[in-house]
Amino acid sequence: MDKKTVGLSNDFKSSTAPKTFTKNPIKGTKLTIAISSAKGGVGKSTFAMNFALALKSLDLKVGILDADIYGPSLPRMMSINEKPKSEDGKSMVPIDKYGIQCMSIGFLVDEETPMIWRGPMVTSAIKTFAQKVLWNDLDFIVVDMPPGTGDTQLTFAQEIKVDGVIIVSTPQEVALSDVKRGIRMFDKLKVPILGLVDNMSFFESDDGKKYNIFGEGGVEKLATNYNKKFLGKIPIDIDLRVAADSGKPLVEENPNHKISKIFKEIALKTKGSFL
Ligand SMILES: Nc1ncnc2c1ncn2[C@@H]1O[C@H](COP(=O)(O)OP(=O)(O)OP(=O)(O)O)[C@@H](O)[C@H]1O
Ligand SMILES: [Mg+2]
Repeated sequence: MDKKTVGLSNDFKSSTAPKTFTKNPIKGTKLTIAISSAKGGVGKSTFAMNFALALKSLDLKVGILDADIYGPSLPRMMSINEKPKSEDGKSMVPIDKYGIQCMSIGFLVDEETPMIWRGPMVTSAIKTFAQKVLWNDLDFIVVDMPPGTGDTQLTFAQEIKVDGVIIVSTPQEVALSDVKRGIRMFDKLKVPILGLVDNMSFFESDDGKKYNIFGEGGVEKLATNYNKKFLGKIPIDIDLRVAADSGKPLVEENPNHKISKIFKEIALKTKGSFL
């Protein structure tokens, strides 16, 4: 009997094959470090700004890429109100503030304009920031990630060369279960996790009494369980919050503050992992 076979054309096969990605390094920097957490509001942006300034204090050249397209924090936290310049209409010059090269979608739209964008537009904005910004001779770019495990995280994990991720969390249970998701995502996508940071770790009153408002030791325990480094604890501190709101991060405003010293220790550990 005549046996009929249905062959798939090569075009069809290649158009339906799983997509392979190439990871391009961000131009103009030696290393890219992402600051992430699956949960919102745990202090990623506050950490990212102060950590970047702490790296700068170690005589490194540093940039901050605000990858939070829907809720950019960089313009307010670094007090930047100007728009980036472009000489050729294609590339953009990052804005220099406190000696840090900065880029954010917030420089291009005003503060109250909502970003009503679908995923592919977010991915394209992120790629533009990675490839079309004239980052100049940096040692580190610190990427402030949005919360979650969505399009932005995937774009960074698959299409941009990320040298390491620092995961920030607060110590309460609801945050920790999200951290586990974040760890698994980066492990699965083979992005190295540099370590975990316990933010809003405790509150110390003026009489020196410590209050573990969100619980105690959870982030460190999680780091041990998942075989990751624990990078440090940052307490709840009003000076840190006020400085973030005022547009001059604490590490810049008061480099000798005890919290600034914690950021510098974490920066030193990070530098030590690479340079
Ligand atoms: N250790 C801390 N002590 C006191 N306030 C803090 C601390 N860390 C962060 N904050 C404050 O908590 C608020 C949320 O922080 P931040 O915006 O950095 O979080 P986020 O994780 O980036 O949020 P999102 O997920 O929305 O991007 C800010 O007002 C910030 O000043
Ligand atoms: Mg943020």
